[in-house]
Formats: sequence, C-alpha cells, structure tokens
Amino acid sequence: MDPKNKPGPTKPPVFPTPRATLPVSPRPASTLASTAVKTPLRTPLGSKPLVAPASIPKPRPTSATLSVSATRQGILDTLSHIDTGKREFEFTAKDFDRVRALIYKHAGISLSEAKQDMVYSRLARRLRSKGLQRFVEYLDMLEKSGDPAEWEAFVNALTTNLTSFFREAHHFEILANQMRKAADRRPFKIWCCAASTGEEPYSLAITACEVFGANPPVQIVASDLDTNVLEHGRKGIYTQDRVERMDPERVKRFFLRGTAEQEGYVRVRPELQKLITFRQINLLDARWPLNEVFDAVFCRNVMIYFDKDTQYKILEKFTSLMHPQGLLYAGHSENFIHAVNLFKSQGRTVYARVLGTARTA
Ligand SMILES: C[S@@+](CC[C@H](N)C(=O)[O-])C[C@H]1O[C@@H](n2cnc3c(N)ncnc32)[C@H](O)[C@@H]1O
Repeated sequence: MDPKNKPGPTKPPVFPTPRATLPVSPRPASTLASTAVKTPLRTPLGSKPLVAPASIPKPRPTSATLSVSATRQGILDTLSHIDTGKREFEFTAKDFDRVRALIYKHAGISLSEAKQDMVYSRLARRLRSKGLQRFVEYLDMLEKSGDPAEWEAFVNALTTNLTSFFREAHHFEILANQMRKAADRRPFKIWCCAASTGEEPYSLAITACEVFGANPPVQIVASDLDTNVLEHGRKGIYTQDRVERMDPERVKRFFLRGTAEQEGYVRVRPELQKLITFRQINLLDARWPLNEVFDAVFCRNVMIYFDKDTQYKILEKFTSLMHPQGLLYAGHSENFIHAVNLFKSQGRTVYARVLGTARTA
C-alpha cells in the first residue's frame, strides 16, 4: 500500500443487510472516549456469521496494509519508488514544479520540495496505465485533454488520507456536550469536510447514538475532494485492524463482524450509515453546494495542506454556514490565529465564531 495510506484497488467483501437493529442506549459522557483498549477482538460465541458470496477473496492475514493493495500493480509501484539510480519514468524538476502548480490550483494543496519522491510514486501508476514514458507527456496530456476522469485520478493520487476512528478523541467528548446543550437545535447538523475514508464521520455518528440512543436527531454531511475515499466511506467496510484500538463494547454495538469468507473485515451498522450523506466537495471551490446551517464543522488535518491565504478564505466561508453558537473543530497541529477576527479559540483546537465581524447565518 502507498505509504501515505492510499486505499488500494482490492475489492472489499459485500455484507448482507443485518436484520437486527442497532442495540444502542444512552451512554454517560465519561465513557465516550476514555475506554479505548488495544486488545484484539474475538468473535463472540453464538454470534451470527455474516455470509458473503464465495467469490469474494479472504483478506490476506498479514496486515491491513498488505490486504488492501498487495497487487502486482501495487508491487510495481513500490519498486518504481525505490531509488535504484534509474527510474522507470523520466521525472524532472520542471515536471515536479508543474505538478505542484497544478495540484495547488486545483485542490489548494501546497506540496513542499521534499515531496518529489511521493509525487513520483503516486503518479507512476497513471503513466503506466497510459503507456507513457515521461512525466512531461502525462502532464501535457492531462492539461490538453482536460479529461475529467484523468483529473480525478490525478487529484485522488495526490491527496493524503491518513485517518482513524476517534482520532483526537477529546473532540468527541466536547461534541457530545455540545449536542446535549443545543437542545433547541434539532436536528443537530454536522459537516465533516475532509472525511477521508469515513472513520471520522462514523465516529461522529457513534457519538450521536451514544448521546441520544437509537435514531439520534443528528444529520452529518461527510465530504472530501477524493472520490476514492468517499466511495470507501459510503461502503463502511474496514479491515478489522482499523477498529482494534476502539473500545470492544463500542465495536460490538456499532459494527458487524465478518466471519468465514468475510473474516478480517467489519462493517458499520446501517443505523450509522443513514445519519451520513457522503458528497464530493472541494474546499477550494468558490461556492459549496450546501444550504444547511451547521452546529459543528469538523475540519481536521486538512488545513495543514493549504497556505494561510487559502485557509483564511475557507474559514471566512465557514462562518456563513455556521450557527452563531456553532463550533469548529481543527486538527491537533492546526491553529487559526491568523483569523482571530473570524474564530476565537476555546482551547483544545476547538473554535467558536466571532459574531458580528463576519456574515451571519
Ligand atoms: C489527512 S486526511 C484527514 C482526514 C480526517 N479529517 C482526519 O482528521 O482523520 C485529509 C483529507 O483532506 C482531503 N482534502 C485535501 N484537499 C481537499 C480539498 N481541497 N477539499 C476537500 N478535501 C480535501 C483529502 O482527500 C484527505 O482525505
């Protein structure tokens, strides 16, 4: 698998729709993010196996990384990345600058000088699939043809999608309190704007079920620029190692475990899926196709890829989509001190709107 957590092309299994409904009950806040253990999960005795069509291959037992993308293509990509002194494709400094300019213009992503090898290995597959030998040919083709599918593949290749369930767990406790307090705002609306493969929006949905019980009055829009990760999120199927650090009770309550052909996979329960709408939204776009007023915006670990000007423009647009009491949740290494007129820190990388200085929702 790509070292930057790119999901590979291996098809995950299809799970049948379960008959059982979500056995949720309100849970005290103190248990929300404090119970993560690293013990591997076992199949509970008497649990119903989830049967998949026999044609679906078992995941490889070694690691999630291998099980997702250890294809011949993946191995070739990895080999092409190893510096043997001679690369498979011609890749010049000029090509690298061109890639940087294109991805910056299209996605706002600023790639540092240090990302040359990453760019080479991520795009090598595109050249191979087109039968090209030189990056200059690929970039000419990309720009001249304007082919939307190739642009999509180009952008998908260059995004970094690292994520996990209940990442930066304190935010989910703060969110739980926010949901309880905002009794006048139902449904409580959340925008998760760099949702990656779905772990973050499903963590939000689990938090909602733990606060309210079954059928929580919560709506979540989960968006990302990368269409591959959105598809993964929509399916809600993960290798088991992705949930190994979660509270086993939580896993039991909110996930279906695959057995037999599906061993090694878990699937989120449909009750969580129905709270979430997955959509492609480019944060860089002048207009976002959203009419909602959000109580919480989760914008975590994506602003680090943007320069300060781009960040400011996005923050300014957030204000017009947020409830006056809404909260913005940022990643642990992100801060918005350059936008103190728009958002004030509440501590722990949570921000509240500064009212009056920006457009009100
Ligand atoms: C490192 S992941 C963060 C995932 C998740 N928010 C978390 O904190 O675990 C960054 C995500 O931002 C997305 N992204 C990058 N540029 C974007 C843009 N211009 N618009 C929307 N999403 C973007 C990437 O596709 C990637 O899935």
